[in-house]
Amino acid sequence: MEGTTQPSEGVIGTATLPSGLRGDYDRARADGTLPDTEIARSEADHATWRTLVARQRAIYPGRAASAWLEGLDRLCCDDAVPKLDTASGILRDATGWSLVPCPGLLPDAQFFGLLAKRRFPVTHWIRRPDELDYIVEPDIFHDFLGHVPLLTQPNYADFLESYGHLGLQAERRGQLAPLARFYWFMVEFGLIAERDGLRAYGAGILSSRAETMHALSNAPRRLRFDMARVLRSAYRIDEVQPVYFVIRDYAELYAAIEQAPALLDAAMAAEPIPPGGTEAGDRDWGA
Ligand SMILES: [Fe+2]
Repeated sequence: MEGTTQPSEGVIGTATLPSGLRGDYDRARADGTLPDTEIARSEADHATWRTLVARQRAIYPGRAASAWLEGLDRLCCDDAVPKLDTASGILRDATGWSLVPCPGLLPDAQFFGLLAKRRFPVTHWIRRPDELDYIVEPDIFHDFLGHVPLLTQPNYADFLESYGHLGLQAERRGQLAPLARFYWFMVEFGLIAERDGLRAYGAGILSSRAETMHALSNAPRRLRFDMARVLRSAYRIDEVQPVYFVIRDYAELYAAIEQAPALLDAAMAAEPIPPGGTEAGDRDWGA
């Protein structure tokens, strides 16, 4: 089975990074970002990008969320590895966000600190041609194509900043495990109900061909979004998801952040629900 392109920020919950990461961490600044204003790309890098985007574009109709697709079109990034400065200009005008280059996975404090300032970290390197279907660490294709389109949308942009503030608070309080689950299910693997049916907006879905096909097939369970349930839901990072959660609109995510402090206390005291597990009170989408 093809895996997902994750784990991305699935590293949340650790103060230090695993060894052997691919990025150029020696040159990173204290906030985790790289000083580069422009990153040189080879023609092979651009060809890999174009191949990845074209493959995904072919399967987005009827699967990708409309707001996410609008954002992707605004970024005009189909033909070459995008320049972060150019995309930042588009984001600043739309929502006040900007993009910053980073070596790859970031420790919690750096990651949350950047989000709280409306700065989204994007890994500087792109995967090799033999890694189109699976990559262990997130690269620029996942970080940019998966995450950046929705940063053009005000509701979602406000939510992600508030998630950064909540993360800084949860880190101080030792509550990162349930907060990482929220990010996993609702940022990386979220689904939204649109007028014409379910669509994907999560970065881990839309940057992976296997996950895009799987998430909207008849195979997985789909549950109505419930913040308390999500905070208790354990996940695996090495295979497509057995369950997804569905929101009605992006404002639900922002509202969930406001509920989070009390729910994080409860989630820390409760047993996690195993990946794909069933819980009394689960509300299947469409049931
Ligand atoms: Fe990600």
